[in-house]
Amino acid sequence: MQLIDGKATAEAIKGEIAIEVKEILANGGKQPHLAAVLVGNDGGSRTYVNHKVKACEQCGFKSTLLEFEETITEEELLAVVDKLNKDEDIDGFIVQLPLPKHIDETKVTLAIDPAKDVDGFHPENLGRMMIGLPGFLPATPYGIVQLLERYGIETSGKKCVVVGRSNIVGTPMSLLMSRNAKVGNCTVTLTHSRTADLAAETREADILIAALGKPEFVTADMVKEGAVVIDVGTSRVKDDSKKSGFSLKGDVKFDEVSPKCSFITPVPGGVGPMTVVTLMRNTLLAAKNR
Ligand code: GUN
Repeated sequence: MQLIDGKATAEAIKGEIAIEVKEILANGGKQPHLAAVLVGNDGGSRTYVNHKVKACEQCGFKSTLLEFEETITEEELLAVVDKLNKDEDIDGFIVQLPLPKHIDETKVTLAIDPAKDVDGFHPENLGRMMIGLPGFLPATPYGIVQLLERYGIETSGKKCVVVGRSNIVGTPMSLLMSRNAKVGNCTVTLTHSRTADLAAETREADILIAALGKPEFVTADMVKEGAVVIDVGTSRVKDDSKKSGFSLKGDVKFDEVSPKCSFITPVPGGVGPMTVVTLMRNTLLAAKNR
């Protein structure tokens, strides 16, 4: 079993991006600038946004964090998006999800200028991905693609099973894995809560991608011997032994599943750091496109 080190891979890629930024600046170009919008006080969201701001520093980007109270109205948030769309200095921005219940996430996503949508959540960017046009790829799925590529994991002709059909991970992931690309050419099964016999499906997987958001859901009996297992889960589970009061749990029961795998990503330190790296890559691309 080989552990896929997302943290080390992410550090390496950020180093590569930082070199590119230095060259841009040396040639009189503009410093890439990412803005992040954070609404409310969700601990997880705050941590993720802080990681993104820190990654900007490491890559040599400028970053702006815009924070708003939980009580911001949809109209006010849409006005913030509009302002960021028009801000000449900002190359790309993200609105951290989830948003409070009184705000329609789809409406907010649709309001983002696709040319600044570095999360790759706008239907224009998702549509571009679907027909293989250049655009911003969604952060988590593309982070996983980069991990598979850097670890030289063969995907062509393999059976890939994705668990979970969210708009931001499962559904775009299944598309990327089936594309005709260096990492791709898989036969993909997209499974979800209505799948009749989930374990029968996951046991068929050469590459199993768990993105359902249920801590330790995938057990050893659900995994084929020698499978590549990618764990997208990041559930916060109460843990009094930790100073923070919680521990981060993946969707995979790591201790019992890992001995069966050829490769596996840990949580934390697997997919998470790569998600942030894709955002940096997309921001650099957005800056170059302008
Ligand atoms: N919430 C969970 N993942 C993401 C992400 O990649 N981007 C944003 N904006 N919100 C998220």
